[in-house]
Amino acid sequence: MARILTGIQSSGLPHLGNLLGAIQPAVELSRNPDNESFLFIADLHSLTTLKNGAERELYVRSIASTWLAFGFDTDKNVFWRQSRVQEHAELSWYLSCFTPFPMLQNATSFKDKSEKLADVNAGLFTYPVLMSADILLYDANIIPVGKDQKQHLEMARDIASRFNQLAGEDVLILPEARIDEKMMTIPGIDGQKMSKSYNNYINIFLPENELKKVIKKIVSDSTPLEEPKDPETDITFKLYSLLASDAEIDTMRQNYLNGGYGYGHAKQALLEVILDRYAEPRRLYNYYMNNNDELEGILKAGEEKARVIARRTISKVRRVLGFGS
Ligand code: ADP
Ligand code: TRP
Repeated sequence: MARILTGIQSSGLPHLGNLLGAIQPAVELSRNPDNESFLFIADLHSLTTLKNGAERELYVRSIASTWLAFGFDTDKNVFWRQSRVQEHAELSWYLSCFTPFPMLQNATSFKDKSEKLADVNAGLFTYPVLMSADILLYDANIIPVGKDQKQHLEMARDIASRFNQLAGEDVLILPEARIDEKMMTIPGIDGQKMSKSYNNYINIFLPENELKKVIKKIVSDSTPLEEPKDPETDITFKLYSLLASDAEIDTMRQNYLNGGYGYGHAKQALLEVILDRYAEPRRLYNYYMNNNDELEGILKAGEEKARVIARRTISKVRRVLGFGS
């Protein structure tokens, strides 16, 4: 049985790009009876950028509700909040003492931000060490991540090897990254990659009238309503194609090519397809957002399962390091 593990930072509300690019494929993968999925909300990592506690709390609840709304099975799998299992932070310290300074200096996640070192906190610098701890604590085999995390996975392997070398045995299991190279990039309402950092995202859980307002803002060219339009370059059409059935997509394509069909019509069709395809997740999301005790109960049960495994690893590591187990 393969143990699949991944973490999701709680630094914003989940959007359509996260759903199609990460959450839905991961839920699909977790349904395979040969896999066991470990999924946690990386709230400690979010502290490197987000300091506001109330916001973090909201994002954690929102992300957890999203995974549950999309059918992540928390009985079969393990689902928890990183900060509640203190072994993450503990292992991170031990591993930081096995991490050469230049390795962290070379991390692109750090280099990208290093023009203004005064703005870089030590947590951001050691971010890959905490991420290694997240993975190595659970003997995870496969780590599905985006391309931007590939280097962090190589570091996790490197750090684990250094530790194992000292131990003289394979205490830590070397993880494999699984990177979906052909994973498409979902465009945002302005046509750039949909991202919380560009503020161009669609939150599918918004109430209908607010969702409508966001969809109205999708950028389009100024071709008049009666003229034919090019579906292949239009953002609304692209987004519609990600959700609609083949027949629905063909109909919309023909409408574009025929003319007499405006971008307003296409946006209305996009709104309707979101409301229709995501009716059940929208209902469940609101249910969990409004039933915090139930949500907390689910996370707590997951935390207990996670802790049992984390403690086993920590105990082996402590023994090797002479801290007693
Ligand atoms: P953001 O860019 O909004 O900060 P994250 O970096 O937190 O999103 O991404 C979380 C997950 O969602 C990652 O696995 C990432 O690959 C996926 N993801 C984010 N945006 C998109 C997008 N526009 N298209 C496809 N996948 C995306
Ligand atoms: N750094 C990852 C991201 O930003 C989130 C993350 C934290 C993670 N710990 C992890 C992913 C462990 C996989 C495994 O997307």
